[in-house]
Amino acid sequence: MTRPSTALLRTHPVHSLDFVKVTEAAALAASRWMGRGERDAADGAAVEKMRESLGEMEIAGRIVIGEGERDQAPMLFIGEEVGQGGEEVDIAVDPVEGTNLVANGLPNSIAVMAISERGGLLHAPDSYMKKLAVGPKAAPYVHIDAPVRENLEAVANALEKPINDVCVVILDRPRHADLIAEVREAGARIRLISDGDVDACIATAIDSTGIHVAMGTGGAPEGVLAAAAIKCLGGNFMGRLQPRSREEAERAVAMGFGDLERVLSIDDLVKSNNVIFSATGITDGDLVHGVRFYGNQARTQSILVHSNGTVRFIESIHRLGARPSAR
Ligand code: FBP
Repeated sequence: MTRPSTALLRTHPVHSLDFVKVTEAAALAASRWMGRGERDAADGAAVEKMRESLGEMEIAGRIVIGEGERDQAPMLFIGEEVGQGGEEVDIAVDPVEGTNLVANGLPNSIAVMAISERGGLLHAPDSYMKKLAVGPKAAPYVHIDAPVRENLEAVANALEKPINDVCVVILDRPRHADLIAEVREAGARIRLISDGDVDACIATAIDSTGIHVAMGTGGAPEGVLAAAAIKCLGGNFMGRLQPRSREEAERAVAMGFGDLERVLSIDDLVKSNNVIFSATGITDGDLVHGVRFYGNQARTQSILVHSNGTVRFIESIHRLGARPSAR
């Protein structure tokens, strides 16, 4: 039986901690593939476990961001219904955010999920998005259309730091050559990452990471996931779709994005004020540790953020059953 979605996860018997189990299951499965050079296998293992875990929950879940359209993805496809029934929720997932990072044993891969009431998360097309993310102090002072130097000066002022203490994360891609030059010109520091901009965007809103701004173009679905966490953390995220081809642009228009030039605010990306975000580390990262195995146990670390402002870092120890097949 489904119930109306009025009080998402506040009065519902599903406890928000249950969502951590979902990302933990995905991270545990993917971590077995760390460094094995097989990104699809890592992703497949995580997808299967995440779907299994979601299937056990007492929710009427609908995947709005997942592994792709129904004809491309056998599991966790867009529109798939998951759960045993209960409160109606929309779910955005990325069972392995940073498949290359896992395949190469590099830092900052995470299993991620965001949940809101129905209609609360933007159904972003599988396209690119220009992004700008900052933490709470700088949140009101930046804009995606402002010049790079202006944004970096605003962040430096808000954080009461000289600009050359400000650290900007950018995906290391040829398309960012001009952006990187502008950031260098402005005098800020840069951390180039090979993949994983969800982790980087969220890190801007957590003081201890030493990351203050994330800029550049990456996946649009990843933008919604990052925005969900950043909204809960009080930071700011702005985006603009950047279709890579005419087909992508047409698909975006067909999905209701009439004006592709429009700036997407954090409230456009995440309409709901009632959101939960969970991420579990697969490999060690800025936000959370990766999965560690010892004896017949594994230890995971997750971050669970709720739009009521609560941020939890959760360490779990999992007793392992029979070892999964290793080739
Ligand atoms: P996957 O987990 O799907 O491999 O995505 C990793 C990622 O680096 C994202 O974090 C980022 O948004 C996107 O890919 C960037 O895309 P591209 O590799 O095409 O530049």
